[in-house]
Amino acid sequence: MCGIVGYVGEQNSAPILIDGLKRLEYRGYDSAGIGIICDGKIELVKEKGKVSVLEEKINGNDINGTTGIGHTRWATHGVPNQINAHPHFSSDNELMLVHNGIIENYKELKEFLLRKNYSFKSDTDTEVLVNLIHYFYSENLSLFEATRQALLKVNGTYGIAVLSRNNKERIVIAKNGSPLVIGLGKGENFIASDVNALISHTKNVIYLEDGEIGEITKDSYYIKSLNNDSIEKEVNKIEMDLDEITKSGYQHFMLKEIMDQPNSLNDTIRGRTILEEGISKLGGLQGFEERILQSKRIIISACGTSWHAALVGEYLLEKCTGIPVEVEYASEFRYRNPIISSEDTIIFISQSGETADTLAALKEAKRKGALVLGIVNVVGSSIARASDAGVYIHAGPEIGVASTKAFTSQIAVLILIALLLGRRKNLSIVDGKEIIQSLNSISDLVQEVLEQNSVIEKIAEKFVNAKNFLYLGRGIHFPVALEGALKLKEISYIHAEGYPAAEMKHGPIALIDENMPTVFIAPKDAIYEKVISNIEEVKARNGEVIAIIDKDDKYIENLVDHVIRIPRTNELLMPILTVIPLQLLAYHIAVKKGLNVDQPRNLAKSVTVE
Ligand code: G6P
Repeated sequence: MCGIVGYVGEQNSAPILIDGLKRLEYRGYDSAGIGIICDGKIELVKEKGKVSVLEEKINGNDINGTTGIGHTRWATHGVPNQINAHPHFSSDNELMLVHNGIIENYKELKEFLLRKNYSFKSDTDTEVLVNLIHYFYSENLSLFEATRQALLKVNGTYGIAVLSRNNKERIVIAKNGSPLVIGLGKGENFIASDVNALISHTKNVIYLEDGEIGEITKDSYYIKSLNNDSIEKEVNKIEMDLDEITKSGYQHFMLKEIMDQPNSLNDTIRGRTILEEGISKLGGLQGFEERILQSKRIIISACGTSWHAALVGEYLLEKCTGIPVEVEYASEFRYRNPIISSEDTIIFISQSGETADTLAALKEAKRKGALVLGIVNVVGSSIARASDAGVYIHAGPEIGVASTKAFTSQIAVLILIALLLGRRKNLSIVDGKEIIQSLNSISDLVQEVLEQNSVIEKIAEKFVNAKNFLYLGRGIHFPVALEGALKLKEISYIHAEGYPAAEMKHGPIALIDENMPTVFIAPKDAIYEKVISNIEEVKARNGEVIAIIDKDDKYIENLVDHVIRIPRTNELLMPILTVIPLQLLAYHIAVKKGLNVDQPRNLAKSVTVE
C-alpha cells in the first residue's frame, strides 16, 4: 500500500517518476506527489487524487532535475488531502522524504521535535520522521548517517527514500516491513516499492531486507545494516515483461485478468505434475514433504481473497491427506497468542507477498517453531523470502485491486499440494491421475466459462440498482460464495454477504424479499438436492435467484430467474469454474454503475499496514 519511486541519473526525472507512479497506482491512489532537486532546492508538487491529476499539474510547471522521488498514497495517518500527501519536507525545506508504513512512536518523537522548535504542516507520522532525520543532519552528519541515527529511534514499519537539497545526486533509502527495491541501470539507478515501476528501465534489481539502509547515486550504491555493518547484496533478474502490466486493449485490468485465467492457470500448473504416478512435483517443497506429512495439524492463514482460497484449501487438504486443517485470518492469528508448536505446518497465502497482517502472523508462527510455507504470487516478495519453503503461483502480475486470477491460481497450487501430500496418504493413483487429467484440461473449461461473458453482462444490467445481495453455496462452494460477495462489495459498493446455503434458514432468510437477489452456486454434486431445497425456500419468499449450474442442468433452470451454465470437472477443481461467473457479474455491475473497477474507493492492492 502506497507506492514509492526514485531516480538518480542523467535524464529529467519528472516523466520517469510519473511513469513509475502510474505503474504503482494500484497500491494506493488517495494522493500523489513528487520532489525533484533543481538548482539547489527541492521542487515539490503534490495533489489530492490520482496520479493523472498530479501529471496535469506538473505539465504546467517547468521542473527539470535529474534526482527525484515520488509517492502515491493510501491514507493511514491524516485524511487524504494535499497537505498530507507525500513527499514531506523538513521544517526548513532542506530534506524531503517519502514513506510507506507507520511510525508507531511518532507522537513522542513529535513532542521531542516540538521542544526543539520544529514545526509541522501535516498530521502525518512521515513529517515527524523527516524532521527527526533533519535533527541529526543539522548536527553535521551525512544524509545517510542522519537517516540511520533517526531510524534507530523509530518504532514501526517503513520503506523510505530521502533527498537533501545539498546532495544533488543522492537518495538514501531504508526498509523495515515495507518493501523497497533498487533498480540498477547504466549511469542511472532507480528505487521503487515494487518492481512494476522498474521494468521499463531495468531488469536488474536488489531487494532490501528489513533493517537495511542504503544510498544510491547514478553509478553506485551501498547497503548497510542499521548497526552500520556493510552488506553484500545479490543482484536479481526480474522475469517479467512490460506487456504483462499493461491493459493490452482491455477496458480494465480486472477484465484483462479475468480473461487471462486460461493462461495464468496453465502457467501455475505447467511442469508440476507427473501423470503416470498421479502425483505433483513442487520444487519449492522438495525436502519438506516428510515434515509436512508428520505435522499434527496444518493451519492456513491469509487475508481477503487469499483467505477464501485458504478455505477451499482446507477442504482439499483434509480430503486428500486426512491431516486436520484449520484456517485463520492472519490479522487475528497473531493477537490471540495461538498455540503453535514445531509439530504444526502453517501455510501463508498472499498474492502480493507483502500483506502486513500475513507477514506478522508468519513471523509469529516461525518464532513458535512451526514449519512455515508460502503460497505467493510476487516473486521475491517479503512473505516469499520469509517462508521456510513454498510454491509460487506464477499467475503473472495482478494489477486490478479486486483479486481474480490470483484466486484461481492459489486454488490450483493448493490442489497440487494436496496431490503431493495426498498421494503419500489417502489418495489412490487412480484418483491422483484423474485430478491431473482435470488440471490439464482446466484452462479449456475456464475458456468455456468465459464465453458466457455476454450472458453475464445481460444479467448484470438487471442488478445495477440492487442494494443488497446474498451469495449461497455449500461444501467447497461456500468459500466461493464468500469470494463472490467480496468481489461485489469491493468494486460495486453493493452490500453483499456470503453464507453456507443451509445456514440461510438460521438468519439470512429473514432478509429475503423481491429486493434481495440471491446467487446460488449449484453444480450437480453430492449436496445438489439440498441446494435445490434452499433455492425453493428463496423462491417461496419472492426472492430473485441467479444460479450457477451445470451446463446440462434442466431442473434448476425452471426454478430460478437467471442461470449461468458451466462445464463439469473433478469436484476438487470446481471452485475454479464456479468463481469466474461471480467475478464477471461483479465486474459488469460495477462498470454499469460507472465505477472505477480497477481502483475502488478506500481499497489498496497490497495492504502493508496492520
Ligand atoms: C487487500 C486486497 C485484496 C486482497 C488482500 C490480501 O485487501 O484489496 O484484494 O485479497 O489484500 O492480499 P494478498 O496480497 O495478501 O493476497
